[in-house]
Amino acid sequence: MEIKNVAVAGGGVLGSQIALQSAYKGFDVTMWLRSEGSIDRARPKLERLRGIYRQTLQAMKTDPSAYCRGLADSPDVPPEQIDILIAKVDDAFNNIILTTSEQKAFGNADLVIEAIAEVIDEKEAFYTTLEDILPQHAILCTNSSTLLPSAMMGFTGRPDRFLALHFANNIWKNNTAEVMGTAKTSPESYQEVVAFAKAIGMIPLELKKEQPGYLLNSMLVPFLNSAEALLANGVADVETIDKAWTLGTGAPLGPFRILDIVGLTTAYNIVAASPAAKEEGSTAARIAALLKAKIDEGKTGINAGEGFYRY
Ligand SMILES: NC(=O)c1ccc[n+]([C@@H]2O[C@H](COP(=O)([O-])OP(=O)(O)OC[C@H]3O[C@@H](n4cnc5c(N)ncnc54)[C@H](O)[C@@H]3O)[C@@H](O)[C@H]2O)c1
Repeated sequence: MEIKNVAVAGGGVLGSQIALQSAYKGFDVTMWLRSEGSIDRARPKLERLRGIYRQTLQAMKTDPSAYCRGLADSPDVPPEQIDILIAKVDDAFNNIILTTSEQKAFGNADLVIEAIAEVIDEKEAFYTTLEDILPQHAILCTNSSTLLPSAMMGFTGRPDRFLALHFANNIWKNNTAEVMGTAKTSPESYQEVVAFAKAIGMIPLELKKEQPGYLLNSMLVPFLNSAEALLANGVADVETIDKAWTLGTGAPLGPFRILDIVGLTTAYNIVAASPAAKEEGSTAARIAALLKAKIDEGKTGINAGEGFYRY
């Protein structure tokens, strides 16, 4: 099967990025949104992304460090080629169809990428609606960060053509796409999705089985948690822990710099959700208290101008 018509469900942070990136790489993209209000909220997101794509491409003409792998196959694109790419950004923006009609969005889709709210009941309701509309051959992907596809495949009516395609935020530069099927996903659907990820400028990362947190968060969450524990237990200060990592491994950023980028609110939500955080005096409870104190001071990370470091 050749994927041509791509439908993206949801026009939030990720849905808008997936839609523009897919259109930029030449796919026919329809965004499905729940209401006219959602359409009005999605348009400025696409407009902002168009600006970022254009500016980044423009900067790539003179500044090699501006290069983004999702926007061009190599850093050595000549300036006249970059002008062609900028025109493609505008074409992509103009060609994306935004609709509230399920029939229009999904009736002719080869691939659906679901990027609606991370609430399993809402995903269920959405997939159930799709069942009667989607063409038989269509592949359905979820961009869910925390829900396993096997927990949702029963709602889809097409477990063999259902899997996770998980993007990272800012997909034009952080262009990994984690591909994760269930035991029921057919190898053909899986490979079609891997090929699609490549075709939209992503680097597909193939998981051979289901794993909560996929690859990146399976490594990152325990790593950040270990650093937080060292701090909360008074073993060393922020700068020293970061230096142990950067000088010891050659990595560009230490865990607390990474936490400032992730945002302390997300870090707090992760630790606070663990049962250990409820036990008084536990390391998890100390970590939660430490993060909460910083959040209460408004020091939520790089976007706030201060987290563990000042920016
Ligand atoms: N934000 C990230 O960094 C990130 C990264 C990777 C994956 N994800 C995943 O992508 C999905 C979307 O995340 P987001 O950050 O774009 O969220 P968001 O809140 O920015 O956007 C959600 C979009 O879905 C719509 N929506 C919400 N509930 C809906 C429903 N019941 N039916 C139809 N539309 C509905 C909203 O109107 C909005 O357009 C989630 O599954 C999330 O786990 C997010």
